[in-house]
Amino acid sequence: MNACNGWPERLTNETELDELMSRPHPGVVRLMERLPGDITILGIAGKMGLSLGALAVRSIRAAGVSKKVYGISRFSDADAIAALEQSGIIPIRCDLLDPSAVQALPLTPNVIFMAGRKFGTGGQESLTWAMNTLVPAHVGSHFRTSRIAAFSTGCVYPLIPVERVGCTERDPPDPVGEYAQSCLGRERIFEYASRAHGTPVCLLRLNYALDVRYGVIHDLARAIWEGRPVNRNVGHFNGIWQGDANAHALLALECCTTPPTLLNITGPETIPVAEVAETLGRLMGRKVSYEGNPGPVAYLNNAGLSHSLFGYPQVPVAHVIRWTADWVRQGGRSLGKPTHFEVADGKY
Ligand SMILES: NC(=O)c1ccc[n+]([C@@H]2O[C@H](COP(=O)([O-])OP(=O)(O)OC[C@H]3O[C@@H](n4cnc5c(N)ncnc54)[C@H](OP(=O)(O)O)[C@@H]3O)[C@@H](O)[C@H]2O)c1
Repeated sequence: MNACNGWPERLTNETELDELMSRPHPGVVRLMERLPGDITILGIAGKMGLSLGALAVRSIRAAGVSKKVYGISRFSDADAIAALEQSGIIPIRCDLLDPSAVQALPLTPNVIFMAGRKFGTGGQESLTWAMNTLVPAHVGSHFRTSRIAAFSTGCVYPLIPVERVGCTERDPPDPVGEYAQSCLGRERIFEYASRAHGTPVCLLRLNYALDVRYGVIHDLARAIWEGRPVNRNVGHFNGIWQGDANAHALLALECCTTPPTLLNITGPETIPVAEVAETLGRLMGRKVSYEGNPGPVAYLNNAGLSHSLFGYPQVPVAHVIRWTADWVRQGGRSLGKPTHFEVADGKY
């Protein structure tokens, strides 16, 4: 059954979800027709990586070209290896904190960097700094002849008043808290590698990928479904359907430059938490309660530049809200990884 533009009305299981998330994006298919060489995805075993890798493989097949896609992680969850292989991705186990292990990775012309650490920073700040700065140093050195599209975060900008237009790439970074500061460190190390070795780099400042199994809308839906109050300390957010975020990340391989190009990756809307919560409550037949007071600031980024390059996200947020309400109501799986979008002091 089609809701609009060919998107389904409901997602009833993870097979359907995975198919939808990796459905070849026309721009990515055209990219694969002209992009030279194989692709390495570093830090593939997290919330986004498998779906990004699957999108790459299906787009390569749709383009009728031949390319290998390598997926690198420690594979803390061993099941991820089989899932990768099933999608046609070649898994390689590697701890990216180990420089000699990084040196042994196959060199490919294209690299997507996704490894990082956020939650658990409080009390283990040094590990977060090592993950977010040492690993980019190892990667920047080994893959100096590749082009690298590296995930960063919208949290390198400050939280801003909600009436303001979101931060653009021209706004100076001003990260709040050690996690966000270490992410700016990640950017600076990639920038150093780019300037020192001439490596083309694009830094992707992403704000909240949305998946029905995790993400801000999922967090809101679960709170409402379980009768917990919705926290509105941070009353607005930006989000983008994860399939679109993955497509934009792959398309950014052609935006890699020396020194690096900065690109905000998110949706076009400033999304009010209370409005989404009320819609979810209505769709799930539950009353919404709140805690906290709507705060004056939020992480809000303007992704106009990436939209002008790649087009608007294909999946509207209204669909994600409807899919997520349905998913949570029918007991669909949760990754159990809350976003903590309500955090305004940078402490994770
Ligand atoms: N999801 C979002 O909404 C969002 C928003 C803003 C920014 N980002 C950024 O986008 C990137 C991808 O997001 P994500 O949500 O997929 O991240 P994620 O869930 O944290 O996944 C990153 C993966 O990297 C792997 N990794 C961690 N340490 C490693 C190491 N030492 N060696 C090799 N692999 C290692 C981990 O898998 P193993 O344990 O198997 O190694 C981990 O699952 C991250 O850098 C994140 O900070 C994401």
